[in-house]
Amino acid sequence: MNHRFIAETCYAVLAIGHKRGQTRSLLTSALAHIGPRPTGSAPPAPLVWRLKVPTPVRRKSCSNSPHILVIGGAGYIGSHMLKRLAQAGYGLTTLDKLSGGVHHAVRWGALIEGDVGDAGLLERLFAEQSFDAVMHFASSIEVGASIAQPLDYYQNNLAHTLGLLQTMRRYGVHRLVFSSTAATFGEPQYLPIDEAHPQRPINPYGHSKRMVEQVLSDCDCAYGLRAVCLRYFNAAGADPDGELGENHQPETHLIPLVLQAASGRRPHITIFGDDYDTPDGTCIRDYVHVSDLCEAHWLALQSLMAGGPSQAYNLGQGQGYSVREVIATAERVTGRPIRVATVPRRPGDPARLIADPRLAQQRLGWHSRWSDLPTLIKHAWHWEQKGRIAARARLPHD
Ligand code: UFG
Repeated sequence: MNHRFIAETCYAVLAIGHKRGQTRSLLTSALAHIGPRPTGSAPPAPLVWRLKVPTPVRRKSCSNSPHILVIGGAGYIGSHMLKRLAQAGYGLTTLDKLSGGVHHAVRWGALIEGDVGDAGLLERLFAEQSFDAVMHFASSIEVGASIAQPLDYYQNNLAHTLGLLQTMRRYGVHRLVFSSTAATFGEPQYLPIDEAHPQRPINPYGHSKRMVEQVLSDCDCAYGLRAVCLRYFNAAGADPDGELGENHQPETHLIPLVLQAASGRRPHITIFGDDYDTPDGTCIRDYVHVSDLCEAHWLALQSLMAGGPSQAYNLGQGQGYSVREVIATAERVTGRPIRVATVPRRPGDPARLIADPRLAQQRLGWHSRWSDLPTLIKHAWHWEQKGRIAARARLPHD
């Protein structure tokens, strides 16, 4: 090994943000002896910079277990999905830019920090590892932000997904489980919302997801790409074992905010409008436990692996709860009073959103285990009280 090679390697390790103090200071002092960065060539950017046990990234598949690329695996639903896939012994690679997700949520498989919109990174990733399927969780999800910054939403949710699909096509990866949303339906014309309900989104977030659904349908016809689109209604709850939970920054979702009010992290929960045409005047939503959602993803993946067709499914319970019912249930589960402040409606909130989940039940055999509201809130409360702190304290695996 010559000095130039050692120097390039040291600079590369430093460049990828290996922040462990000891390693960093050792490398820095080694570089002090070696001298300045060699000119004329940039250090190669290493692809995998933080490995998690027990599944290191492999060059091409060397076992019979399927290997899944989980885009957005450090996020709320993606991290729960990793657990489900790891339980089945699957090989896992997470690609996540860690803007919304957190690295300590990736507890299984390899983590590659990077953006799905980075075409060069995707190219190298697919060249180095054979993937049996891709699960795509990474997207921007706030309706209000999508109205204020539509280009960001179309870039992140649509354009980046197009790049991913191009790469998948080049490498012959033809199975995708895609995170879609109830927001693709817009204002409900009838309830519960089944898969035949017209899709007329009313904000850029919903449009961006609807557009991807259309692209996937066209790719099925043209290239044989098989995609299952899972339209979440209101994902909530936390891992029943307390290992994982919701970590949005900033948090905008009702149930974690209600529980933060119960725990004293917030002075109160703000109710966005109590003048809707509902029994208590507050909005009604269909809350589905994150681990039940992951089970639906698992079943969708199995259907694709078995050669099943492309399909979209609506994922909810088929039962709705008002904002006030959620707060009352949270008071019962936590045993704490929760203060409320009522303000005018939040723009873009339909009065009621309730899924018809029968297609997923019939075709995938999906049945929820934890989505009844008290159980869902109990798991989220456990996470709010203990899991979040334990997860932060947990050191990344070496
Ligand atoms: N709400 C409050 N106060 C809050 C937060 C929410 O009253 O502090 C209300 C909202 O107005 C809404 C309900 O609680 O009526 C649920 O709101 P969330 O923000 O938790 O969830 P949304 O129904 O707005 O959004 C969810 C997903 C979106 C998806 C949408 C589909 O988070 O990604 O469902 O309808 F687009």
